[in-house]
Amino acid sequence: MDRRLFLKVSAVASSIMAFPRRVWSAVARLSESAIAQKVKDLVGQMTLDEKIAMMAGVLGPFTQVKDSPFRTNNTPGCERLGIPGIRFVDGSRGIRFKGATCFPAAMARGATWDPALEERVGNVIGYEGRSGGANFFGGVCINLLRHPSWGRSQETFGEDPYHLGMMGAAVVRGVQNHMMACTKHFAGNSIDKSRHYVDVRMDERTLREIYLPHFKACVDAGTASIMNAYNTLNGEPCAQNSHLLSGILKNEWGFKGFVLSDFGSLKSTAASANAGCDVEMDRRRFYDWKLKSAVQTGRVKIDKINEAVSRQLGQHLRFIHLEGSTDYDRSKLGGPEHAAVSRECAQKAMVLLKNENKTLPLKRGEIKTLAVFGELADKVNLGATGSTAFEPSYTVTPLQGIRRAAGKNIAIIFDDGVDLISARDKAEHADAAVVVVGLSHLDENEGFDRLNLNLSDKHEALIREIASANPKTVVVIEAGGAVTMEAWKDQAPAILLAWYGGMEAGNAIADVIFGDVNPSGKLPIVIPKSNEQLYPFDNKARKVEYGYYHGYRYFDKHGLEPAFPFGFGISYTAYKYSNLRLAQKTIGRSGKLVARVDVRNAGDVAGEEIVQLYVGYNGSKVDRPIKELKAFARVALKPGETKTVTLEVPAADLAYYDPDSAGWRVEEIEYLIYMGPSSNKQDLLSESFRVASI
Ligand code: BGC
Repeated sequence: MDRRLFLKVSAVASSIMAFPRRVWSAVARLSESAIAQKVKDLVGQMTLDEKIAMMAGVLGPFTQVKDSPFRTNNTPGCERLGIPGIRFVDGSRGIRFKGATCFPAAMARGATWDPALEERVGNVIGYEGRSGGANFFGGVCINLLRHPSWGRSQETFGEDPYHLGMMGAAVVRGVQNHMMACTKHFAGNSIDKSRHYVDVRMDERTLREIYLPHFKACVDAGTASIMNAYNTLNGEPCAQNSHLLSGILKNEWGFKGFVLSDFGSLKSTAASANAGCDVEMDRRRFYDWKLKSAVQTGRVKIDKINEAVSRQLGQHLRFIHLEGSTDYDRSKLGGPEHAAVSRECAQKAMVLLKNENKTLPLKRGEIKTLAVFGELADKVNLGATGSTAFEPSYTVTPLQGIRRAAGKNIAIIFDDGVDLISARDKAEHADAAVVVVGLSHLDENEGFDRLNLNLSDKHEALIREIASANPKTVVVIEAGGAVTMEAWKDQAPAILLAWYGGMEAGNAIADVIFGDVNPSGKLPIVIPKSNEQLYPFDNKARKVEYGYYHGYRYFDKHGLEPAFPFGFGISYTAYKYSNLRLAQKTIGRSGKLVARVDVRNAGDVAGEEIVQLYVGYNGSKVDRPIKELKAFARVALKPGETKTVTLEVPAADLAYYDPDSAGWRVEEIEYLIYMGPSSNKQDLLSESFRVASI
């Protein structure tokens, strides 16, 4: 196909944005076997030009969706055969349609440790997306946060592969009640400034054990699509990395969906198609006449093209019963039912890091004047812009939320904190003070990184000033990742990490401050005391080496004490752990460990606790982490109530990857098991068990 014909095919196809109802509207959900048969039939009827046309985005950054106010990034499909194209909308805080529900940033949602809630979040995203005419959600970002400096840290759920996999799989399941989900960026993408050229290097064991398990979890959850990363991995750009795309993803893991390129990430035609990149986004630069000529000259086999088209077709057919469905009510977009899920999420995400002298919750009856400080207190601060920019139906700032929740009997005084002397004066005369500080898209965003992990000097000075003037000072931090706090942490009696809480952030912050909600979030990352505690983060280098250890695994290994450990978060009550016991002290290689622990709410308010299970290794023949997260659960407890929490770990999850034999090995050794409220050794009960041939 020459260039002119390509443009014509793209243009025609892009004008038919909705899948033609006449063909598919009466279609019921297709079975797996019906899909397989239909894929075969359709591919058999397609010309090479039609196939290649389906493999790339259409010209123009966005296309108006038929009968909808929204726009999407499209691929053409095949009009002649009634095959829809991809109608892509990004995330990750919701579906990026104006007026949609804006959820807290993914990092905040990671702090909920609540896959069931995340599945409901995904369900809302998918519903809103489909009701606006999209059929593809491009916002499931699960890159592992290796270092807190990554500019997009807010877009992912945290630093631990198991936790990331649980959260990522949950949102995939939810979204896919309604449309295709895309899991990204495959793989090793965690530096932003140099993302287009950096070669991320790591050994095979590190790749398999640390940087890939969460992608596997999303593949197992049925993700329709995987987006490759911009970066190069071990010398081969991810868009044409056949080890990753064909070797691991498609052959080993049995991924049934299609690989879509990150926008503009392709660097080649034949190498990308042969490696297994099925769709070029956001427009064709390499999958055009060059791909046709590569097929004609034998550099790309027609089977490769058929496979790429079949993969995409299979996913369209999986969701075809929803094309043009009239079951979606667009007026629900950003409405109260969905906003309630966002608020619940923001509440459960909040991590109470410190609460000396029971500073929190503020008791309405005891406070007459509450002073609220900080320029962020009355700002809408949703987090990143760029590919995740969001225009929700409405927003609630912390000040608005606090005013609403305080009621008539508390006078709220606001000061932006720019003039420290006047702020101090107000703090001295108030019964309590709330200081809202943190970061915004100016500090962390796509395209650059956050090399300095402190708050700004201005924000740190404001905290110190207010905390020294009012003993009931609450510091509320808005951020998408770790913030170092040593310069002021000891002076602040209460610290609440509120992240970027989405459109309902202000209400959720007020709910927690006044004790209407007991905070229950836990850190999905370690918070270091300083940058010096961490391994290097070089966002200018052309090559970087990712070692096996990062995050809490690194802190454990090097005996470092963080400011706040992974998994940490306190509440307005106290949970007591006791009686850790194992169903068996020895399990077989194909068995599973069943561990139980009693958790009691020893305080006087109801709450939800996140119970964590870590595993350590005694006598492994390879170097292993001191401990690793292998299971967790959220449990609700009334005051005085005790519940037994049961967590299970399949023996297969104890394996290490052996590059020599290219396989996973479960060792017959002693394993240590730890259960408790965080990864902090002192907080954990421990037991041991063995894996043996039984
Ligand atoms: C980002 C992707 C995003 C795409 C489209 C790229 O720059 O890396 O995460 O999905 O833009 O918005």
